[in-house]
Amino acid sequence: MIVLGIETSCDECAAAVVNNGKILSNVIASQISFHAPWQGVVPEIASRMHTEWIHTVASEAVTQAGLAITDIQGTAATAHPGLLGSLLVGLHFAKAFAWARDIPFIAVDHMLAHLYACQLSFFSINASAANASAAQEAPAYPFLGLLVSGGHSIICRADNFDDITVLGTTIDDAVGEAFDKVAKHYSFGYPGGQAIDKLAQKGNSDAFAFPMPKLHKADKDGNDHRYDVSYSGLKTAVVNQLEQFRVKAKCKDEIDDSEAANERADIAASFQKTAIDILLRALFRAVEDTGLCTIVAGGGVAANSCLRTRLAEYAAGFTGEKKLKVIFPPPELCGDNAAMVAGLGEQYLLRGDRSPLNCTASARVRVFKKQYP
Ligand code: KG4
Ligand code: ZN
Repeated sequence: MIVLGIETSCDECAAAVVNNGKILSNVIASQISFHAPWQGVVPEIASRMHTEWIHTVASEAVTQAGLAITDIQGTAATAHPGLLGSLLVGLHFAKAFAWARDIPFIAVDHMLAHLYACQLSFFSINASAANASAAQEAPAYPFLGLLVSGGHSIICRADNFDDITVLGTTIDDAVGEAFDKVAKHYSFGYPGGQAIDKLAQKGNSDAFAFPMPKLHKADKDGNDHRYDVSYSGLKTAVVNQLEQFRVKAKCKDEIDDSEAANERADIAASFQKTAIDILLRALFRAVEDTGLCTIVAGGGVAANSCLRTRLAEYAAGFTGEKKLKVIFPPPELCGDNAAMVAGLGEQYLLRGDRSPLNCTASARVRVFKKQYP
């Protein structure tokens, strides 16, 4: 089924065409330069840009797929979670397209779409030889999902494309949010996650020993935090209490320019190491407890080189009965894109699911946030 997917949940204005799980086009118009002066996404600017761009971006996706508008057999759009104003633009565009062409429409969840990214075959008509050779078998259900983005950090069991059980999540900030806030504080660059990833490669990750959150035991209400993560303590340590965690004390006056540059890289590397350690501690517990031998990652932070290396090392050294498989989407499908939306949407549409044209967007999805009584 030829599906046009639309993704406008944050600052990427994206449209893609997928047919039978194959990506025919994947257009992403990034708004980074418009938000960079504020070192963060400004919701009003984001929704305004989406309104201005969505028609061109969607047309481009159809053209790049080598198709005409009349070839599109269904539309899918992200309805939640995300920035409300931004979500509404893409959602209404996809609904209007479906209504005008009298084709089915489905609203999808952004985090389920991130988890679906690894199911897509990578045979895009634009695929380079490198990408084509990266084509892999779709991961079989059930598996453990690691969904890590700017708004969420979720460890889940996935039994189907629409059936996940959240095992753990953040009790405060999301991992991507921590990367963004630390980068903003130290002016490491924008967007923060990529800037820290790059800077960290030149730094010493043992220069600072930041604390791991203590979340092992159930709290007084019986909430078990075994697979949960927390980032507000790490963020505070890196931003406000840096000196307390310096491994080797140095006299500030003696730091020359090159040492100051090294110090910035050391902060980035030490922060990144701890941020990834926090995720992996919870994830490895889930592997041990569930016995699931496939980990599927998704979301912007899944592009992080330290996370990818550490998980590859873990899989290589895994001594369980079965081999452990770790599957990451290619970098272009980690961050926000519409191919994952079209792919997930195709699954619903093929099953006969339809969303009513009066459905609307929502900023949050309760199941993805830890609920406290
Ligand atoms: O999935 P995504 O593009 O948008 C949301 O759904 O939030 O994720 C964006 C998040 C941002 O916090 C960004 O800093 C982070 O992903 N990110 C990274 C990297 N690339 C993007 N974090 C760490 N390392 C990266 N290489
Ligand atoms: Zn996302």
